[in-house]
Amino acid sequence: MTLRVWVNDRPVGRLDRHGRGTTFVYDGDVDLRNAVSLTMPVRTASYDSAYGLLPVFDTNLPEGILRDILQKSLAKAQGRADPLDILRLTGRNQIGRIRVLPEDERPERQASVRNIDELLDREATRAFVSEIVERYAPRSGVSGAMPKVLVETDPHGDVDDGGRAHRHTIQTSDYILKFDAEDYPGLSLNEFWCLEAARRAGNVTVDARLNVDGRMLSVRRFDGEDGDRLGFEDLASLNARTAVDKYAGSVETDLFKRVAEFSGDRRRANLEALFRLCVTNFAIRNGDAHLKNFALLFEDAESGPFTLSPAYDLVTTTAWIRTDLMALNLQGSKRWPKPDAVLKLGARARLSRQAAREIIAEVGDGVQTVLPDMLAAFEAHRQAAIGHSIAAAWNEGLTMSLGVDPVPIPEPGRLSRGGDAAGSRDAVAPVV
Ligand SMILES: Nc1ncnc2c1ncn2[C@@H]1O[C@H](COP(=O)(O)OP(=O)(O)O)[C@@H](O)[C@H]1O
Ligand SMILES: [Mg+2]
Repeated sequence: MTLRVWVNDRPVGRLDRHGRGTTFVYDGDVDLRNAVSLTMPVRTASYDSAYGLLPVFDTNLPEGILRDILQKSLAKAQGRADPLDILRLTGRNQIGRIRVLPEDERPERQASVRNIDELLDREATRAFVSEIVERYAPRSGVSGAMPKVLVETDPHGDVDDGGRAHRHTIQTSDYILKFDAEDYPGLSLNEFWCLEAARRAGNVTVDARLNVDGRMLSVRRFDGEDGDRLGFEDLASLNARTAVDKYAGSVETDLFKRVAEFSGDRRRANLEALFRLCVTNFAIRNGDAHLKNFALLFEDAESGPFTLSPAYDLVTTTAWIRTDLMALNLQGSKRWPKPDAVLKLGARARLSRQAAREIIAEVGDGVQTVLPDMLAAFEAHRQAAIGHSIAAAWNEGLTMSLGVDPVPIPEPGRLSRGGDAAGSRDAVAPVV
């Protein structure tokens, strides 16, 4: 089964099975700017993996339950299913500018809804979530363990052919929809408020919105518009690793050194942004900041510009798992760093101690400022208990890792009328 690989509207090569692995060969006349990966420059010789997919083609494969579902239905239909079979399904519509399609097909946009509000106005009931997942998951090339789908809007989605010619001039937006998970009550709210804290801490963050009951999050895609997408490569792929190895490695080498290596003339800015993001993760106790939660965006693979992507997937994991540690090593350990280690990390970003201190102080201010609003929002959504766990986690991060003051936390129920500490998940009016 040979698959055709495209970069936006250009075919660039072919992907095939090769023993238990895969092999990729560029076509003869590919522009160097259209390399599929920053680690795979255009060349005549093939790129091979002994087992499974080459990392860049593994980047957007669903993980967890969605992957199990796709795998099972494919195996049922054809007797077996390996990662290349899954890629044949999800590769037609995935994050970044690469598309993977059967030989005779061309990439094409498939709009799902007219407007994201259609979805955000709905409560994320179990029935609604399964309906959305069933409808969109099989053509959603997006990684991650939590259920999620890609949704494309097209305000003129039901116009006939006469209108199609204008499609490219119509403002369209693409989103990732993420849902609460049973084991992690308040996940969407948690992510929303972590992103808000990160934004106030001076990070560029994804643009995220909660649905009406706070149990679903829409994240606006930052990889451009269909036909003209940006290159997207996560730090797993840049370290030549697939998703199973996303927790392997260190902040120093697999994040800072690698980002420095692939940043071209944006090195200074990217390292500073990466430092700020890492400091934010220490402060909000995000124990899931693994290699797939950092990425570079680029217009062309040869000359860039290569930009650290907006911060995404920020969650206070210690709200549920009190003893959760970091996803990657720092100074050889996954334990949360003390202030001197945080300051030292600034050197990896080539920052002076003074500049690093300023960033740490700004992050501290941002998290402190957002903490009371976060608590109030959780109370308004009747999830006060989780809100309080997050506040305790942030205070721990602020004091133990950043060396700044904690924020006094009022008793549950004191912030707003009607809040309760039971963590019940009743639908209430949106508060953001
Ligand atoms: N705003 C965005 N635009 C484009 N791609 C994104 C965006 N946010 C996340 N991604 C991609 O989608 C993947 C899954 O999203 P993420 O929020 O990390 O979900 P999960 O919580 O399941 O890990 C990320 O690893 C990244 O590849
Ligand atoms: Mg993630």
